[in-house]
Amino acid sequence: MHSPSELLKKIEKAITEIQYPAHPASLYEPISYIMGLGGKRIRPTMLLMSTELFQGDLESAIPAALAIETFHNFTLIHDDIMDNAPLRRGQQTVHEKWGDNTAILSGDVMMVEANKHLTKVDISVLRPALDTFNATAQGVCEGQQLDMEFETREDVSIDEYINMIRLKTAVLLGGAMKLGAIVANAAEGDAERIYEFGENLGIAFQLQDDILDVYGDPEKFGKQVGGDIISDKKTFLRLKLQQLALPSHAAHLSAQANNSNTADKIKQVTYLYDQYQVKEQATEIMQEYLENAFRAMEQIDLPEHRKTELINVANLLMNREY
Ligand code: IPE
Ligand code: IPE
Ligand code: MG
Ligand code: MG
Ligand code: MG
Repeated sequence: MHSPSELLKKIEKAITEIQYPAHPASLYEPISYIMGLGGKRIRPTMLLMSTELFQGDLESAIPAALAIETFHNFTLIHDDIMDNAPLRRGQQTVHEKWGDNTAILSGDVMMVEANKHLTKVDISVLRPALDTFNATAQGVCEGQQLDMEFETREDVSIDEYINMIRLKTAVLLGGAMKLGAIVANAAEGDAERIYEFGENLGIAFQLQDDILDVYGDPEKFGKQVGGDIISDKKTFLRLKLQQLALPSHAAHLSAQANNSNTADKIKQVTYLYDQYQVKEQATEIMQEYLENAFRAMEQIDLPEHRKTELINVANLLMNREY
């Protein structure tokens, strides 16, 4: 088995070796740009870890890892248009740099590129690999639609929120790990358990992302801190505050929807988050989903030492700064 940093090196190398067509340059440049900005590469890394967990061949899983990372970066380009985000990984977003139309089309062609990577998996596993990839991609679209719809709704429940982040974020981590298992020819039950591990971890991951969006260090976070507050995202922090707030605070919170001074809006809402300690409550829920993930992992009948690295990575992700 390889360490996560060894796997990361393999992924980085494979990414640099991808060749996109040269023309039209304005369609492909943004792809090289976003893929080259780095990021944690957590999905392909965990996909390869899943392959190795089930004693599969690493090299034959690389195309699936590239498919997942390409798909992820495509969703980021479109997500940044939808969220009106100026910054990604500490750099200008694609739509800021090249305009919305190019960002839409470069994103579209990345979905095609992702499929081209995936078709390079062994023919014997191509059908289930495609089924898993498609189910994942469809889930992400559904989650993103709910995320947008919730911006203008004030009655979103915490259950609805969890389902939304499950779709927009968690199914991709679950799907990546399931793909890793499929390529390794793992038993169906094992592929399902590792999917559950990834999905529960993905929910915890998005809860942490929502926390960092408010409390991250702008130098390290790489995205605009306060972006979720500006766009009235219904994050766990926000919904918990809505549940707990005294009527006067609730009214003040609702009024922020019309506050066009974004710096002041971030300050007002963060002040309320602090008053009701919603960050601490979000961290508790995050921990619960992390434990759900570990319970799924326990059901996989393999010696504990083979699982250690995956458990370490999961714990590290909960303490990340970006
Ligand atoms: C960002 O994902 C989108 C979310 C689901 C929160 P990552 O935090 O994995 O972003 P990169 O790829 O490391 O930049
Ligand atoms: C992540 O949601 C979901 C997808 C990108 C599909 P966010 O909108 O919270 O992601 P970031 O914070 O912009 O990375
Ligand atoms: Mg976003
Ligand atoms: Mg978003
Ligand atoms: Mg976010």
